Amino acid sequence: MKKIGVLTSGGDSPGMNPAIRAVVRKAIFHNVEVYGIYGGYTGLISGNIKKLELGSVGDIIHRGGTMLHTARCPEFKTPEGQQKGIEQLKAHGIEGLVVIGGDGSYRGARALTQQGYPCVGVPGTIDNDIPGTEVTIGFDTALNTVIDALDKIRDTATSHERTFVIEVMGRDAGDLALFAGLAGGAETILIPEEDFDMAEVADRLRKGQERGKKHSIIIVAEGVCSGNDFAKQLKEATNFDTRVSVLGHIQRGGSPTASDRVLASRLGARAVELLIEGKGGRAVGIEKNTLVDYDIVEALERKHRLDLDLVKLSKELSI
Ligand code: F6P
Repeated sequence: MKKIGVLTSGGDSPGMNPAIRAVVRKAIFHNVEVYGIYGGYTGLISGNIKKLELGSVGDIIHRGGTMLHTARCPEFKTPEGQQKGIEQLKAHGIEGLVVIGGDGSYRGARALTQQGYPCVGVPGTIDNDIPGTEVTIGFDTALNTVIDALDKIRDTATSHERTFVIEVMGRDAGDLALFAGLAGGAETILIPEEDFDMAEVADRLRKGQERGKKHSIIIVAEGVCSGNDFAKQLKEATNFDTRVSVLGHIQRGGSPTASDRVLASRLGARAVELLIEGKGGRAVGIEKNTLVDYDIVEALERKHRLDLDLVKLSKELSI
């Protein structure tokens, strides 16, 4: 393989830049040309493709976002959109593609692979919801952003003796909420993987107050409901007054942590190795600190599983 492409797609995540850097540098190290596809699959369809050199990825390792920009592209879900993408790849002589992104990005990579264009998926999302890896690029940075916010909210919650509801991202996955709740000492963590009982939430709050707890933090994963809806329901059921904080897109930005930079560098480089070895249609990941790769079709059929032991532990530690 002498020419490969790289794109980022879907919601951005901190660490995508170091992943792009790793792809470009690893490929050039092996005398393979690299083309950057700007704007995800939308850019692929429109042919927004430029050759990348060693210097193109200088000074990005510490930056959040993605220098290649990203997009959500409904057109690429259609066979016509995919065909247009393939024509662009052919026109540029690109023989293989590294796709950095989440679930939707992997689906695009699978479609291209099935139509003869070898792709390797690199998991980049703050949601940590990609099967075939224990952790995704961006999760650690987003988690630290949430913890920073939570610690600050805790200060004011303590001063005012208030209960706070904090809504965090994660789409349908509860990872960000669970890890943040555990690391930030939240009293209650609501995740989509587990039904919640309002009476039980209220009971925990009441018992805490009886023991002298003056403030409480409730984390609500967006996959459960909005923080505002939850606060309203709680008020209706118990008359508990709360303040709501919706962390929103700040969770997607910021300089990637050291851990995300290392992960991104390892996974990006491994994706290039696989393409050079002629192994397209793979999804790379990390398990027990070892790089792994799975058939991308299989990876998409698997289900990401939340660590239920952590759910149990979070309850035991927040009594
Ligand atoms: O997948 C990443 C994510 O940030 C989710 O956590 C969230 O639900 C979604 O993207 C938000 O998407 P958008 O940026 O398109 O509003």
